[in-house]
Amino acid sequence: MTRSIRPLVAGNWKMNGVRADLAIAAEVAAGYDLALKSAVDLALCPPATLLYMMSAALLGSRIATGGQDCGVAASGAFTGEVSAAMLADSGATFAIVGHSERRALHGETNAVVRAKAQAAQAALLVPIVCVGETQAEREAGKALAVVRKQLRGSVPEGSKAATLVVAYEPVWAIGTGLTPTPADVGQMHEAIRAELARILGKPAAAGVRLLYGGSVKPGNAAELMSVAHVDGALVGGASLKAQDFLAIARACA
Ligand code: PGA
Repeated sequence: MTRSIRPLVAGNWKMNGVRADLAIAAEVAAGYDLALKSAVDLALCPPATLLYMMSAALLGSRIATGGQDCGVAASGAFTGEVSAAMLADSGATFAIVGHSERRALHGETNAVVRAKAQAAQAALLVPIVCVGETQAEREAGKALAVVRKQLRGSVPEGSKAATLVVAYEPVWAIGTGLTPTPADVGQMHEAIRAELARILGKPAAAGVRLLYGGSVKPGNAAELMSVAHVDGALVGGASLKAQDFLAIARACA
């Protein structure tokens, strides 16, 4: 953790969840007690279909919501796309952009990810820009270089500490139960902070929240969150279980 930074634990529901699952969000809200509220920010990123209802249900809870992606354009003839302005209109505060599943399955390049991050910022959303190496890239010793390049290509210049979140998610750790060692996470997060300083300048970079994501569970959260420059978590599978998500939040607090 970074002492001066308030941590953020964000849940990425991916393509999971129907209206009945709003009960999960309600259970998270019920467990977000004063001690947690004083120590850690929470956000849930449901499918776009649930965003408005979830945001309304969480009003007053101090739990934020976010989209999992956003269109580059503000509006227009882009069948199937959801714009950042629409996410904001549905109550969102955040938009995940450049998740490895979007990069891999939808061919999103760094340039596209940056355009989406800029679109999010233009709609006054905070983009959670995801970066991370594949297994092959790590084995080839290229993890740091790959992530630095992704940052240079995906982070909007001019971002401020309050208008950007970066999530380091090694592709091989997502949904697999595998995690990097704390030493590897620490080395990567330090490198990310340094690269952000080159892109944004030191004062802005010093305050950007750097999340770790990839198989974060109640059992490993405390160890991962104790690593320097880890300012919270981006949680997939475990965010669909309210008590697991809250346990991860407590590990951050
Ligand atoms: P996971 O997913 O926690 O299920 O590994 C993380 C993510 O993809 O954001």
